[in-house]
Amino acid sequence: MAFVNENYLKLPGSYLFSEIARRVNQFKKENPDADIIRLGIGDVTRPLPPAVVEAMKKAVEEMGSQETFRGYGPEQGYEFLIEKIIDNDFKPRGIELSVDEVFVSDGAKSDTANFQEIFGLDNILAVSDPVYPVYVDSNVMAGRTGMVNARGQFEKIIYLPCTEENGMKPPLPGVRADMIYLCFPNNPTGMTISREELKKWVDYARENRSVILFDAAYEAYIREEGVPHSIFEIEGAREVAVEFRSFSKTAGFTGARCAYTIVPKEVKAYDSSGSAHSLNPLWLRRQTTKFNGVSYPVQAAAAAVFSAEGKKQVRETIDYYMENAGIIRNGLEEAGYRVFGGINAPYIWLKTPGSMKSWDFFDKLMREVNVIGAPGAGFGAHGEGYFRLTAFATRANTEKAIERIRTGL
Ligand code: MLT
Repeated sequence: MAFVNENYLKLPGSYLFSEIARRVNQFKKENPDADIIRLGIGDVTRPLPPAVVEAMKKAVEEMGSQETFRGYGPEQGYEFLIEKIIDNDFKPRGIELSVDEVFVSDGAKSDTANFQEIFGLDNILAVSDPVYPVYVDSNVMAGRTGMVNARGQFEKIIYLPCTEENGMKPPLPGVRADMIYLCFPNNPTGMTISREELKKWVDYARENRSVILFDAAYEAYIREEGVPHSIFEIEGAREVAVEFRSFSKTAGFTGARCAYTIVPKEVKAYDSSGSAHSLNPLWLRRQTTKFNGVSYPVQAAAAAVFSAEGKKQVRETIDYYMENAGIIRNGLEEAGYRVFGGINAPYIWLKTPGSMKSWDFFDKLMREVNVIGAPGAGFGAHGEGYFRLTAFATRANTEKAIERIRTGL
């Protein structure tokens, strides 16, 4: 008899974005003529930049020729890409990294989900509430939590409420947390944190010997000065933090798949006898065992993001999405909604009218104006009464969606 991993049974129903897709598909079946606009999952709509496409085509040609064919690549990623990442994303901000501190992967989603594997099961987690559900669900699957309560919160997780009163910034935990997930610019609220505020987290982690799992997948959307792009801009962070980055939302790689994770050699966790272990070789061990690297054409394409044309084209794409974000923000504010985010992030977080429940607002929007968003309650108990829209649609659909919300509800 085969036994299941009972931790999976603790998880409610389906993954948030699968549940959204299920409801939309059902609605479409019942209303085949509905002109649905999707501002739900944060999936990009602009094509890959031309410089990236050229590099990918060239790499595919190389793979088709005897002289230039490549088999397995290094599990950690090709150095030609890692060096570009360091030189472009970190050196200009005064952050020194060595090539073996960068791990190229197929996505920040998989990295944020998998990284917990190298930690013991007795660690206490802290997460923002609302939170990107992958951080929580992956730890539930691993068995690091207890059961879920009626509010959807798991035992052994410290939930840090992000509310209008605290500017949607997670408060430091009152008790010891060992693994702390932070995401800035934030998914789902679109809010950011200042350097001073982030320093408090780094200091907390140093005092408590905790590790911060910092998701910076949206850093390219930061527009304002003074907002840190990387946790490693903060003194001491190399001892206590790892950072996740992605090409998905910057260069349109949601379908191509490429991301990377920074694991400084100084960041450590402890065994039961109190001895310190660097996480870098443990993550390398995990990746070399379970992962065979990102395909050569995709890494070659990612490297082209850092060429002069690539940078210009990516900047244009980000500007395009941020103009969408402005259209959503301003349109909703004019229509009387209370709105957050969308200034340094491609997500707009809004208060539902009349404190309507998030899923009720989801249904209303879908049925009455055929616009799809993401219900705040799907991101946690403190997301109830809120709703997320993404700026990743086309301009025409973004304008149409906001017009429908303004006039049709
Ligand atoms: C989101 O909509 O939150 C993102 O698309 C999720 C992801 O990047 O996996």
